Amino acid sequence: IKRITVPQLMAYKGQKKIVSLTSYIAPFARILDEYMDMILIGDSTAMVGYNMDDTLSITVDQLAAHAKAVVSSTRRACIVVDMPFGSYQESPEQAFRNAAKMLSVSGADAVKFEGGEYLAETTRFLVDRGIPVLAHIGLMPQYVNTMGGFKAQGLSEEAANRIFNDAIAQEQAGAWGIVIEGTAEPLARRITQNVKIPTIGIGASPECDGQVLVAEDIFNLSGSRIPKFARQFSDVQATIRQGVEAYASQVRDGSFPTLNHCFGVPKNG
Ligand code: KIV
Ligand code: NA
Repeated sequence: IKRITVPQLMAYKGQKKIVSLTSYIAPFARILDEYMDMILIGDSTAMVGYNMDDTLSITVDQLAAHAKAVVSSTRRACIVVDMPFGSYQESPEQAFRNAAKMLSVSGADAVKFEGGEYLAETTRFLVDRGIPVLAHIGLMPQYVNTMGGFKAQGLSEEAANRIFNDAIAQEQAGAWGIVIEGTAEPLARRITQNVKIPTIGIGASPECDGQVLVAEDIFNLSGSRIPKFARQFSDVQATIRQGVEAYASQVRDGSFPTLNHCFGVPKNG
């Protein structure tokens, strides 16, 4: 089986949905690989994997290591890795250096970073040098400090027009797709209808060309309330809890381990 490529995902537009979840460790990635078109090593790993308050503190080295784990445990899905905060905003050169490092360390297929019009130049710089870029606009969690929290974007006409222009700028700069996060629905719909590249929504619109969610949010593993834009599709927490409880009680009551789990046990005792 060959991996799904970026051009293949682009060709899904108008044909079928791009289905994506985040993952940053092998046990989940192995399962996701059978069902996902794209797996994202999101900087949300900072929050769901490292219990940080926001996404700002995860580093290039950390995310690259997670991406390597995901790439090596999958063979089918297209693998996209997030550019961490501070690793790309300074200049196209800085972005290229860090993106190249992430891809060469991990073997991932593409990078994603947050930013619209002002980062279009950076997108062009990377794409021209062989690094496919997935743009991320709308609610951009790396702006948590300027936003004063995580808030839906594009609710006023002026804000919506600004985000629409971000989408157009990224498309013209050569982004292969656009993640639209936490925006007014009509805006996400309008962008989807007006760009030729696929849009991948999260809290955006059913009309988007694809959907991405943070895996922990849909498996009841996030440690917090399910966001409005997600749904609990299974309860992995309950399953793990059941196993942990059974293990603890069997060790405590002496029913595990038995001699069958030991080495060099004399046959007839
Ligand atoms: O970091 C992340 O998980 C993301 C997706 C939610 C789009 O950027
Ligand atoms: Na992210």
